[in-house]
Parts: sequence; structure tokens; C-alpha cells
Amino acid sequence: MSYKHYGRIGDIWKHLPLCNFLLNEKPRFYIETNSAQPYYHFTYSPERDYGIGTVINNALKSDIIANSIFYQTLLNNNKNIMNLNEYLGSPGLAMNILKNNVEKYIFCDIDENSLNAINEYSLKINLFNKVETYKNDSIKTIDSLINNFSCLDFIHIDPYSILNKNIDGKTYFDTFLDSVKKGIKSMLWYGYENNSQRKYLNNWMKEKIKSSCIQSDNNVILIELFLSSIKENEVVVNPGVVGSGVIIGNLSQKSINEFDSFSNELVNIYQDSIILDKYSGKLEKNKFIF
Ligand SMILES: C[S@@+](CC[C@H](N)C(=O)[O-])C[C@H]1O[C@@H](n2cnc3c(N)ncnc32)[C@H](O)[C@@H]1O
Repeated sequence: MSYKHYGRIGDIWKHLPLCNFLLNEKPRFYIETNSAQPYYHFTYSPERDYGIGTVINNALKSDIIANSIFYQTLLNNNKNIMNLNEYLGSPGLAMNILKNNVEKYIFCDIDENSLNAINEYSLKINLFNKVETYKNDSIKTIDSLINNFSCLDFIHIDPYSILNKNIDGKTYFDTFLDSVKKGIKSMLWYGYENNSQRKYLNNWMKEKIKSSCIQSDNNVILIELFLSSIKENEVVVNPGVVGSGVIIGNLSQKSINEFDSFSNELVNIYQDSIILDKYSGKLEKNKFIF
């Protein structure tokens, strides 16, 4: 259970749209590059209180949250949502939502414990025969498998850093662009700590997209949510991530509309939120259509 970021704000601006995407897109294969654990025994922390705590506390006031597949899936997996027992990571969410309706789940990680936990969990929910796990740098794994994937499949790329190159000089953003170009339904989540990183990443992504063969009908859209208190270079408060972006490609109009509406609703429900009893947790949204 090494992944300390579960249930924090970065997971919220990833799992909330992801769950609806999966239900809408009905993929043949679900592919995940940075899987980590299928679920976590929930323990309280101020960061989780700001993250999943704020979402749960606002579900009664927000139909968008209450009807979201993310919230409904957590509800189904906990006796009492107000006293959360289990937080599902993305492999657990995907398997609970897609169930037997995919041909294959492909989970990648470099951490053997995470892949073992995914296999055990899949056994428990009768999906073991659908699961393949790959223990290696997942940029390499996806490179070796990508010719088997098509517009029927969904890839979830979840690295935090999109600038880091692997030993072949390739980044997770390159993996995202390869996937989009192949028509695969694609989603990438990344994070950052300050405004200069945010602006650098935005320009870097714009340039990479411009020099690739991405077309407007690939519907590549980025929405980032970050603390309104974000500073140019330093970090005043970090509830797990100061800002994060989700970039999607080849998704349906329904998913695109829900993506927008979830981001607006998070800005709405976090408006008066507080981190560590003293810092504003207000969020800001930025959207780019490429
Ligand atoms: C951000 S977490 C994943 C969280 C998970 N996707 C979720 O949403 O619940 C990061 C995971 O990436 C894995 N990881 C780090 N570098 C990797 C690499 N080069 N290839 C595959 N997995 C990697 C780590 O072992 C860790 O389990």
C-alpha cells in the first residue's frame, strides 16, 4: 500500500472523469500504464479530507457528483460513504465499472506488489481470466503492444511527470500522441507544483501537438484544475498536487461534455474549501482545445 496520493485532489481530477469515460466508451481493451493498487484501506489525512472528503460532503448538494459513476462506484463498495472504508484506485474502479464487458484488461507497472494486488483483486471479483499484467517501464510495454490496439480500445496514461524521458528518450506524452494518432480512446493525467511549470508544460504540449499529425477530429482537449493560490515558483501549500491536467483524445461527444461539466462542478464545490484549516482550497480551471 505504498501509494500515498490515493484520494487526494489529483486522484479526484482523474477518477471523476475517468469513470464516466469508461461507461460511455465501452472499450474492448482497457489499458493502464501506471496502475498502482486496485484499492486502499482508507485512513484519514488532511489531504484526503480536502480531496475525496470534499467530494463526498458535497454529493448531497450536487446532482453532478451524486450521479457520477465515480461516486456511485465508491457508494457500492462502502457500507457507509460518510465513513469511507475503501478507496478504489483506477484499476479497481475500471474493473468494477467495466466488469466482464471488456475482452482484456492490460495493467502495467514497475512495482510487482501492485501487479500482484491487481491479480488477487481480479480473482476476487471473477475477472482473473481477463487480466494481463506487465512489469516493466510502461512506455516500452506500450510501444511493444500498440500495434494490437485500435479505436475500440481505451488507454489511461497516468505518470505525474510528462517531461521525463525513458532510456529510449521517449516521454509519456509521446505515448499519448502515438495512441491518439492510432485512433485509440486516450486519456493522460499529469501534475505540477507551480505556475512556471504549468506554463512551460502548456507551451511544450502545444508545440509537440503542432509538430505531430494530430487532427482536429481527434478532439484533443486539455482541462487543468489548479489551486487559485498557485505561485510563480514556490509552493505555499500542497494538498498532494498543486495543479493537474487531464488531456483526452478520440472520446465521444458525451464524454467531452461530461469532462467539461465535471471540471466546472469541482470548481464550484471547492470554492469555499479550506486546506489544513487555514489555506484556501479554491480551484481554477483552464481549458485548451487543440
Ligand atoms: C500515479 S501512481 C498510479 C495511480 C493509479 N493510476 C490510480 O489512479 O489509482 C503511479 C504508479 O506508477 C508506477 N510507475 C512509476 N514509473 C513507472 C514506469 N516507468 N512504468 C510503469 N509504471 C511506473 C509506480 O510504481 C506507481 O505504482
